[in-house]
Amino acid sequence: MREKGRKKEDIFRDLSNFQDLDMTFDSGKILSSMCTKPDPIGMEAYKMFIETNLGDEGLFKGTSMMEREVIKSLGNLLNLDHAYGHIVTGGTEANIMAMAVAKYLFEEENDGIPELILPKSAHFSFKKILSMFSIKPVYVSLNDDYKIDVSMLEELITDNTMAMVAIAGTTELGLIDDIPCISKIAKSNHIYLHVDAALGGFMIPFLNYKNNNQINFDFRCKGVSSMTIDPHKMGLAPVPSGGIIFRKKEYLEKLAVKTPYLTKDKQTTIVGTRTGASTAATWALLNYYGMDGYKKIVMDTINLTDYTYNKLRTMNHVNVIHKPELNLVSFTVDNMDVDILQEKLKYYGWQVSVAEYPHAIRIVLMPHVKKQHINQFIIDLKEVLNL
Ligand SMILES: Cc1ncc(COP(=O)(O)O)c(C=O)c1O
Repeated sequence: MREKGRKKEDIFRDLSNFQDLDMTFDSGKILSSMCTKPDPIGMEAYKMFIETNLGDEGLFKGTSMMEREVIKSLGNLLNLDHAYGHIVTGGTEANIMAMAVAKYLFEEENDGIPELILPKSAHFSFKKILSMFSIKPVYVSLNDDYKIDVSMLEELITDNTMAMVAIAGTTELGLIDDIPCISKIAKSNHIYLHVDAALGGFMIPFLNYKNNNQINFDFRCKGVSSMTIDPHKMGLAPVPSGGIIFRKKEYLEKLAVKTPYLTKDKQTTIVGTRTGASTAATWALLNYYGMDGYKKIVMDTINLTDYTYNKLRTMNHVNVIHKPELNLVSFTVDNMDVDILQEKLKYYGWQVSVAEYPHAIRIVLMPHVKKQHINQFIIDLKEVLNL
């Protein structure tokens, strides 16, 4: 570190130089991210609570009260009357917390090596979890729709099954597993079921709202023990804002650790010091948009996804993998490897990602992506493919 400090204007000039190297959501060229440009209301609330630390809750009683309100609202959104959980850094931390709870519960009754039944469509955060907690993965195969093959589930259960994971909005394809069926299997076998709705949690409730065509994916399914739901994805909150919701207080309590030098006697989070700003942003946005506001945001992205899907589907030499259920479209093209296509699209400034299974270009239609961006993307794609 330098001996003497520098002038503020020099520092901010350098900061702006760093910033110039970043892509921006406003450019509309980021088609790979499940995060988006944070909403200004959320950012204002975030800044207002920037000095708070929910790791030392007794000092920030108002922020702590706000977190309880947010958890209650997220629980309601997921059809749970009494919700227990926290606002955390994101889907990864939420999934870690759920699996930590499942492991503690497992160890109370079993001293074998814990096994986790999960699909290969599970987010890579589970790879971290498997190694962190020394859990043995038991992969359930996917059916032709790239969803958990429920007919295979029951035979994978053993005395050492610690938990099952299902996904509401897969990272690569945005597909929703058959949670009602998986929940029945989990419940009848007394197995902890975690639903990773990091993406779908802030979409499906709004698709269901004022709609007879209900997608059942949440705590209405009695076998669901916990759910991940991320405000910093479709909730438009600034990063880091994730959410973990447990069905029972005793689940969250499994994480409790005594905190002698702090203002509250225990913590039920993995991290210690943690910002209250994410909670404030989420609280503000839930109140600002309400069900109607979020429904509009979600419907706009769904409509743009359908538009993109139809454009791609009708293009020569383009093979769309599936009909979208949420806001993702994936495709391959004839005569070109998708990794090469990804690189070629980069020359035009587009950031798309490549899904591992199936190996395909993956586009996420978050609220920062508009119709004019997709029209330009299609023009550029045609040029790359010489169409
Ligand atoms: C289904 C799912 N779960 C978990 C995560 C991890 O979330 P985060 O990156 O916020 O930790 C993601 C991220 O895209 C996801 O799609």
